[in-house]
Amino acid sequence: MQTMLFEPYTLKGITLANRLVRSATYEKNADEEGFVTPGLIEMYEALARGGVGLIITGGAPVHPTGKFVPQMVAAYDDKYIDGLSKLVSAVHAQGGKIALQIAHGGRQCYPELLNGELPMAPSAVYEPVLKTTPREMAEEEIWTIIRAFGDAARRAKAAGFDGVQIHGAHGYLVSQFLSSHTNRREDAWGGDEDRRFRFAAEVYKAIRKEVGSDYLVFIKINTNDHLCSGGLRPDESLRVAQRLQALGIDAVEVSGGMYESALRPARTKILHVEDEAYFKEPAGMFKMSLKIPVILVGGIRSRSVAEDMLDKGYADLISMARPLIREPDLPKKFMSGKDKSDCESCNACMFFRRLDKVKCVQLQKLKE
Ligand SMILES: Cc1cc2nc3c(=O)[nH]c(=O)nc-3n(C[C@H](O)[C@H](O)[C@H](O)COP(=O)(O)O)c2cc1C
Repeated sequence: MQTMLFEPYTLKGITLANRLVRSATYEKNADEEGFVTPGLIEMYEALARGGVGLIITGGAPVHPTGKFVPQMVAAYDDKYIDGLSKLVSAVHAQGGKIALQIAHGGRQCYPELLNGELPMAPSAVYEPVLKTTPREMAEEEIWTIIRAFGDAARRAKAAGFDGVQIHGAHGYLVSQFLSSHTNRREDAWGGDEDRRFRFAAEVYKAIRKEVGSDYLVFIKINTNDHLCSGGLRPDESLRVAQRLQALGIDAVEVSGGMYESALRPARTKILHVEDEAYFKEPAGMFKMSLKIPVILVGGIRSRSVAEDMLDKGYADLISMARPLIREPDLPKKFMSGKDKSDCESCNACMFFRRLDKVKCVQLQKLKE
């Protein structure tokens, strides 16, 4: 039976073939300088052919100080526009739609990617996974990065992307400003909820100024940083989304967790349908309180669960990352009756240091 999962959906005037979204997924498939490669284009062609309604790229740094992993697609110079437009054309040629995720890693940048410089962040709060203490950003640097988000969005639009997603989740820079754990400032950028929100607001406004009111601009945010103490929690996160909605943002993708949290964005052991859609509760709360579309990500593996989330009003769109690494054509398979992704949520795809590019390690083992 075909349900609304496979019906077209209009997002900011863009007609998506269905309500399935490929959540932003780092590819490790740009070259060392961040240029689009033929291999990256192939990856995206396969996703578009596979029938997903909207593709969100892996996070693209808006500034060289924001590179968090190697071989990310870069968006911090006009010289990248040409390659990015080839990527977009390849997706459009297959009938797909694609948004560029724009990001800055802040304190979650691997220091070796920053030419020996320390990562920068709202405050100098030790990052235990990378074992680094970042340096606190100066006011001038904050404005530089805000402008860089605007410029990256302008480049995305020039390259033909259907929209941009601000990476405001998972403990990266925008998320760091929103979180009371990582933002300990006592100036205009931190100290209370209003001031913690300011960076996200200015980033949004800088983007909107560059791309105009008709262009799709949305955000991925944490509903919960999942820290033992402090950090962003669902009540404050919802107020962030409400304020962004008032400013004019077009949609919100709901996630949670960061490098140092116990519960991470990509959880393992998704064995039963009850383990799936692990952000459905906060997403449902967002959906009840917001007018803009809510995108649910996190552990969705079954078509029936995806349909249930839409039917029960937890979300407007269903987003997946790991299942589409394993099976880029999963949407088409769902449409022809398959119920469950083959993805084992083992997270071997995340150990990018061991991989030439992000791929399904289990599938590779089966082929060998
Ligand atoms: C290999 C890999 C790379 C990821 N890269 C990004 C990224 O660039 N930006 C982002 O917002 N989330 C990223 N994520 C998180 C996913 O978008 C998603 O939120 C998470 O994996 C949960 O969804 P899933 O259960 O469908 O995989 C990544 C996840 C994986 C496994």
